[in-house]
Amino acid sequence: MAHISVNVDGVAYEDEVEPRLLLVHYLRDRLGLTGTPVGCDTSNCGACTVDLNGASVKSCSVLAVQADGGEVTTIQGLAVGDAWHPLQKSFHEQHALQCGYCTPGMIMAARDLLKENPDPTPEDVRHALEGNLCRCTGYQNIVRAVLAAAAELRRHGAPEPRGVRSDVPSTTGQEAPA
Ligand code: FES
Ligand code: FES
Repeated sequence: MAHISVNVDGVAYEDEVEPRLLLVHYLRDRLGLTGTPVGCDTSNCGACTVDLNGASVKSCSVLAVQADGGEVTTIQGLAVGDAWHPLQKSFHEQHALQCGYCTPGMIMAARDLLKENPDPTPEDVRHALEGNLCRCTGYQNIVRAVLAAAAELRRHGAPEPRGVRSDVPSTTGQEAPA
């Protein structure tokens, strides 16, 4: 077993984990953060995308021990209180999801894009999301949603303080100091 210290969605955790445990399984099975889904077993679909230390990663291709000492933001850490992140709002308003299985990964990957490129073209969005697969929507509305969120973020900025979850299920979790 390996000891890890990791901050997830604003909550600090100390845990003992198998060295082979994937980050996505740590998030889902140990911390109960089932908002991050597993969509494949080939690291292709991108549904499991989270932010690790400021960059989006497929959490099924990262070991939990690689997050030791780091910060993870999942889709469940984006909202600030009752206020959705502009990308969440935009996906809802632009009908950018059907089954919703790909949506957490799409939003996390799009968030990474918009941090780097606040004014992307449709081609930029498609390129940034090429590692994220959607079986339902045909992508048109997803691209539209990301562009609309980008415009909103340029106007008003992002509610970037991490959402500290109020539904912390783990007894190992404690709020990180401000
Ligand atoms: Fe991670 Fe598909 S579950 S890429
Ligand atoms: Fe169903 Fe994208 S909305 S996979």
